Amino acid sequence: MEPISLTTALASFTQQWSPRIVTSVNDYDVRVAKVEGEHLWHTHHHTDEFFLVLTGELHIGLREPAGERTVVLPKGSVFTVPRGTEHKPYAPVPTEILLFEPTGTLTVGDRHDPVPEHVDATTGHSLA
Ligand code: NI
Repeated sequence: MEPISLTTALASFTQQWSPRIVTSVNDYDVRVAKVEGEHLWHTHHHTDEFFLVLTGELHIGLREPAGERTVVLPKGSVFTVPRGTEHKPYAPVPTEILLFEPTGTLTVGDRHDPVPEHVDATTGHSLA
């Protein structure tokens, strides 16, 4: 095991909405992703999903019992989407994020809208 530079990890790929697994903590993955534009509405039935914005800005649409709202995460912000909450990430500019979620968690959740061409439905890829 050696330290991993997030800068190097992020420089090693270009595909958007396609997380890379940089390390794991017990049964959780630490993943990084490059994102821009819209993801899709989806729900993780069994797990919360943690976001940290490394660069850029991430918006997350949330459909909650009280209605729909959007949270805005500038660079350096964290947010956890609770399990069972339908959500749709959106990045208005090129953005880099770090995700923390159980190994095997699918990017598009357990229930989701049709997956657009530009979104990778994956449980995360290894770093090259
Ligand atoms: Ni999600």
